[in-house]
Amino acid sequence: MRVYKARILSFEDPSSPKEYRYMAVDDDGRIAALSNERPPVGGELVDYSGHLILPGFIDTHIHLPQLHERAMISDSLLEWLEKYIFPAEEKFADPEFAREVSREFFSGLLRNGTTTAVVFSSSHREATEIAFEEAMKSGIRAVIGQVLMDMNGPEGLLTTPERAVEDIKAVALRWHGFDGRLFYAVTPRFAVSCTMELMRAAAEVAKEMGLYIQTHLSEQIGEIEEVMRLFPEAESYTNVYLKAGLLGESTIVAHAIHLSDRERKILAETGTRVAHCPSSNFFLHSGVMDLKAQESAGLTVSLGSDVGAGPFLSMLEVLRDAYYANVMNPFKAFHLLTMGGARALGMEDWIGSLEVGKEADFVVIDPEPLAGPEDELEVLLSRLMILGDERNVSATYVRGRKLCEG
Ligand code: GUN
Ligand code: ZN
Repeated sequence: MRVYKARILSFEDPSSPKEYRYMAVDDDGRIAALSNERPPVGGELVDYSGHLILPGFIDTHIHLPQLHERAMISDSLLEWLEKYIFPAEEKFADPEFAREVSREFFSGLLRNGTTTAVVFSSSHREATEIAFEEAMKSGIRAVIGQVLMDMNGPEGLLTTPERAVEDIKAVALRWHGFDGRLFYAVTPRFAVSCTMELMRAAAEVAKEMGLYIQTHLSEQIGEIEEVMRLFPEAESYTNVYLKAGLLGESTIVAHAIHLSDRERKILAETGTRVAHCPSSNFFLHSGVMDLKAQESAGLTVSLGSDVGAGPFLSMLEVLRDAYYANVMNPFKAFHLLTMGGARALGMEDWIGSLEVGKEADFVVIDPEPLAGPEDELEVLLSRLMILGDERNVSATYVRGRKLCEG
């Protein structure tokens, strides 16, 4: 048992955080007690006085092979993909390179306080296996999938529906559910680079094996026009995925900015989750997601960095852009980052907040020099939301294990 002392905050309720002084974590990495007095359990005291402890950050949309492609400016998403991203992802055919970047990627996430990440790998099976191995070694929680494309991309990134299913089965059998920490997401890139046959095959294998699904939806107007040209019989972009069988409670769609009410209704009825990626949306000038409209439609919204279209690994920096996109108080922003992420993954019973019985995924934050640790909570969290970054992360813990120190 260990007992942590700090200003401990948890965001189950988007309008008022819970606050404690002590958190006891048992040897299995579960939260055993939370209180304002030292709990009557033995164990070592870990004194983080002057610091905050927050639930681990959950990044529900990020691309591993794009780590080094950040800040490549372009006029449009489709041009950016062709000019920079596809060539960069082709380099992941080299396993040594894939391993090097994977290591750097997961250690970078942990250094930034991200304890759970939902990750697009490249189109390569071996690079995807390597991503799982490096995620395992790092101790992070992750949902990872090999990107699927079978049209409109360079030959080196294209697969066939048969090969895609074979690759998914092989990697998911080994890794989906590993240590209760690693999971597989079937990952058709987006409708522009996938035939209906590929998307149907992907949806089927995901259902059969109980896997997550992740893709992109409705990010830019030019992209939507291209989808409507490629699938002229479909009534909308969302409808393409509905017909393919890709939507559901285990599916996360990134962006989902330019939606009609009817599309929102389809997403809500199928229980599909939306990863809001405000930094990426600003960077590529994709548009601004209407958070109110998404929530009024009953959608579960979480946050994603979308590195490399998003320039920041730090989810604190993504929070700033979420605030610029849609005015919200910091309690709500931290709620989206933590509980929102856990709900997107259906993991809200084990992670996403600091509650007794949950797994102890947490970030130790030094609020200096942005704010004093005892400042009024709304001020303190506003400063972190607007000004915070990697420099404020003092340590990151997953399941009670310290994985990095800032
Ligand atoms: N749409 C299809 N692929 C991608 C990608 O890699 N990044 C972003 N932002 N959008 C996409
Ligand atoms: Zn993306």
